[in-house]
Amino acid sequence: MYGLDILNVKSAVFVKSAPTVNDCPESNLPEFAFIGRSNVGKSSLINLLCNNKNLAKVSRTPGKTKLINYFLIDNAWHLVDLPGYGYAKTAKTNRATWLQSTSEFLANRENLKTTFVLIDGTIPTQGNDLDFIEWLLETQINFVIVFTKVDKVNQKELSANIKVFMENVMQFAPSEPKYFVTSIEKKHSKDKLLEYIMESVNS
Ligand code: GTP
Ligand code: MG
Repeated sequence: MYGLDILNVKSAVFVKSAPTVNDCPESNLPEFAFIGRSNVGKSSLINLLCNNKNLAKVSRTPGKTKLINYFLIDNAWHLVDLPGYGYAKTAKTNRATWLQSTSEFLANRENLKTTFVLIDGTIPTQGNDLDFIEWLLETQINFVIVFTKVDKVNQKELSANIKVFMENVMQFAPSEPKYFVTSIEKKHSKDKLLEYIMESVNS
């Protein structure tokens, strides 16, 4: 039981929304960022990890998260909800701002330990996801892949989507990136993600 208790988030509080990396909290706490295409399930997954359905705003309308949102977890680490990319209806100027503020954050934030790149497990491989992962590798940003919404497809379809996606990644990655398979409906991989984060916090 003790082990399970360790993996349970006890407190999660919203800290601030920062437009750019310069506005982020002054802090030495380890940070874990969540990023991915708009509507992929970033805010939902954050809420699952934190046992709080209302912490990060979840929406059926893509493009809800527009700022760098900081949450303080158990007074020990920060979780960062980043704006989604690839939303077609976003104006070009907004897209450029996204690219600049997010890439600056990811490339320059010193306490950032891992970036969780969320990939929709229910759809075929998307070019902008691959481009983003290629950029992370080129920029030497530590990341892991998280397939989301896996409750929405059957096992066969899911395995096929993951296989094709990872094969594409291996066209440019030196080794296969670590990946998790998640569902907020089934609370799938919640413990595994928290375990990964806690290992990093304590290392
Ligand atoms: P933006 O902030 O707009 O970029 O979106 P986001 O990536 O934060 O996505 P969000 O968490 O708001 O979820 C988008 C939609 O997907 C919501 O309707 C969620 O309920 C749904 N969703 C997220 N995760 C899952 C999941 O694991 N399973 C199912 N079935 N639906 C999910
Ligand atoms: Mg969001």
